[in-house]
Amino acid sequence: MYNQALRSEKELILCEDGTHTLFSKEFNEPYHSTKDGALHESLEKHVKPAFGIKKKFEQLTILDICFGLGYNTFATLYYLKEHSLKTKVHIISPEFDEGLVRSLSTFSFPSEFDFLKPIIQTISENLFYEDEQVKIEILLGDARVSVPQIKEQIDIIYQDAFSPTHNPLLWTKEFFAEMAKISKEDTILTTYSTAASVRLGLYENGFYIFIHRAELMRYSTVASLKMLERFEYIDMELKKVRNPTARSFRDKKLI
Ligand SMILES: C[S@@+](CC[C@H](N)C(=O)[O-])C[C@H]1O[C@@H](n2cnc3c(N)ncnc32)[C@H](O)[C@@H]1O
Repeated sequence: MYNQALRSEKELILCEDGTHTLFSKEFNEPYHSTKDGALHESLEKHVKPAFGIKKKFEQLTILDICFGLGYNTFATLYYLKEHSLKTKVHIISPEFDEGLVRSLSTFSFPSEFDFLKPIIQTISENLFYEDEQVKIEILLGDARVSVPQIKEQIDIIYQDAFSPTHNPLLWTKEFFAEMAKISKEDTILTTYSTAASVRLGLYENGFYIFIHRAELMRYSTVASLKMLERFEYIDMELKKVRNPTARSFRDKKLI
């Protein structure tokens, strides 16, 4: 399924928001939308909708799938600083590309992340960071193995794997079931994907589905185990009637 021989082959790309990302030869895909931009995409599709809903919480446990360049994790810390939030965050992030994480101390991150340099250095050395407010844990290895072993209960899931076309095993109904098992009753999930198969897989695991209209970019998806008031709700039963051939991704077709 995965092509480890190509894992270290990546190219640096400058996105339209002026931030850098990589192109993965293994997955034949960039780590971020080069049009939306790495930092802009992290903030608009993941961090802002998640914290818009969870801002008042004193403590949050976040599952960041997968760590990659760490933009979603670092943009979360940037958001906390910009909004002077005292929220304690525990970020748990699976990643099987150890070489990538270890290289992040020299990656060309945007100036917004300058204050994070000591944290980025520590993560690339130890795959772990902790202070009074923030704990970041990289779960090294396959997310399909590590996620079912998570003991914590998750408040927010950033679902930011490579696309279902190139990495379908991280978008199946069965993998979403593993996420639902470690979720709280009001967990929310953010993702750039608007695919019917992805939304169905979430819906079949009890998530309500919403459209998130982000600033200056294509809309994305917010899923929640509890009904949300301020988001545009999608009636998935109606979607199924209108699109009767749509199916969630399933492990058994892939493994
Ligand atoms: C699109 S990138 C994530 C980008 C990241 N969220 C960021 O903001 O920089 C997807 C990441 O998933 C990792 N990955 C793919 N399949 C995986 C798996 N089964 N288990 C763990 N990591 C995986 C890849 O190595 C890559 O770093």
